Amino acid sequence: MKKPLSIPTSLQKVYDPSAFRRYGHEMVDLLANHLASMQNEEPGKVLSYQDPAEELNFWQDHYAGDHSISATFSTILARSIKVHHPNYIGHQVSVPAPIASIAGMLSDLLNNGTGVYEMGMASNALEKIIIDLVNQKIGFPNSAGGFMTSGGTLANLTALLAARKAKLSSDIWKTGHDQPLAIMVSEASHYCIDRAARIMGLGTKGIIKIPVDKTFKIRVDLLPEYLEKAKKDGLTVFAIVGCACSTATGSYDPLDKIAGFAQANNLWFHVDGAHGGGVIFSEKYRPKTKGIDQADSVVIDFHKMLLTPALTTALLFKNELDSYKTFSQQAAYLWNAEQAQEWYHSGKRTFECTKLMMSIKVYSIIKAHGENIFGENYDHLYGLTHSFARLISNNTNFTLLLEPESNILNFRFTPKTKKDLNLLNEKIQNRLVKEGNFYIVSVVLGETRYLRCSVMNPFTTEAVFEQLLEEIINIGNQLLA
Ligand SMILES: Cc1ncc(COP(=O)(O)O)c(C=O)c1O
Repeated sequence: MKKPLSIPTSLQKVYDPSAFRRYGHEMVDLLANHLASMQNEEPGKVLSYQDPAEELNFWQDHYAGDHSISATFSTILARSIKVHHPNYIGHQVSVPAPIASIAGMLSDLLNNGTGVYEMGMASNALEKIIIDLVNQKIGFPNSAGGFMTSGGTLANLTALLAARKAKLSSDIWKTGHDQPLAIMVSEASHYCIDRAARIMGLGTKGIIKIPVDKTFKIRVDLLPEYLEKAKKDGLTVFAIVGCACSTATGSYDPLDKIAGFAQANNLWFHVDGAHGGGVIFSEKYRPKTKGIDQADSVVIDFHKMLLTPALTTALLFKNELDSYKTFSQQAAYLWNAEQAQEWYHSGKRTFECTKLMMSIKVYSIIKAHGENIFGENYDHLYGLTHSFARLISNNTNFTLLLEPESNILNFRFTPKTKKDLNLLNEKIQNRLVKEGNFYIVSVVLGETRYLRCSVMNPFTTEAVFEQLLEEIINIGNQLLA
């Protein structure tokens, strides 16, 4: 008789529960100490910047060296940007609630693929609960539905695919393009909308960019004119996108007015609320999204303002049926009834085949802290940003671009000098990154470069803003000298 194969010792070691327990405890200690140090009076640098070549060099040496896994984790932590640092005021990534990171560990070990019901029973059911909650906050009717997917970029593309399917009589999924198509969107929209349209084969002509007003909101007064022109040019416009809010300046488009225009012209109305759509959880700020309930589809990133680690995005549809029409694919090995509308097979409606158990991260936040925590985060961060704007307005060294509507704020150092202020502000931002005491970014709007902050961290205080302004003045004056 053949001897049964024994499990190689090397593989037994991979799955050793006691090693997992040891490393797990060490990791929790490492991260808890990290969190505590970020809340200390002196949390150190936000990042210890290295040039890309030096960083690569370091890791090449490390790869060749002998390092314990525990030491390796500590080194990765030390060489990564710290979003929990109060001086992290840069890109729009969430400062994750630690409970959601712990849920992430559960997701990573269970590795439930979620696309098929039994490969994620809990995560599919929790996804439906979260989607229903968000739809109720939006004010959608009971016919609404949706799902979670990997990021705002993918969600916006999925929504526009659904829009095309819903609004066109020909089935492009089967026949390919037979007419020039277009969407309308503000010129201040995130680049992923432009990218989505190009992926869909719309080309440059198919992305009709509507100018914005002084506050960077879409000019709704221009919509009829742009639509007429598109028709004259032989384009079939099938969708219009509203920003809630825009990426560069955090401006909310007047969604109610766009909705009226979309209805009058039989266009699909999509809202890119990746960053600011979650204000539906805030009593104070939800009026900014007035009209969102009239959208056909909405994207909201939990991994921006809703305390969840990336990638965790909700794509909501006013009419759930639309969410099933986007893809029609034969995958007999996954589902028996291809055409059936089964919410619990999430992969029928998503780009992903295998998907993280993202719903459990959001659910863990709600269970640990209550659903009001999302609104509280918006209220706190938007409020903080208003006080930062006040500080800037009261300081004659700076010019504020505009009163912030959200937690995104743009300003520039404007001393009296004949030197190029764009270059000066660019250099200031570069120096800040390299020195690592603060992390902010910069953006060019029109011809003008601004320093750009997204206030993401509840631990950022007015004192931090004051120190940041002081540091900018110091660096700026050194550069001018
Ligand atoms: C308004 C808006 N839409 C979409 C995106 C892209 O989202 P993601 O990074 O989740 O793909 C962003 C990212 O900053 C954004 O600000």
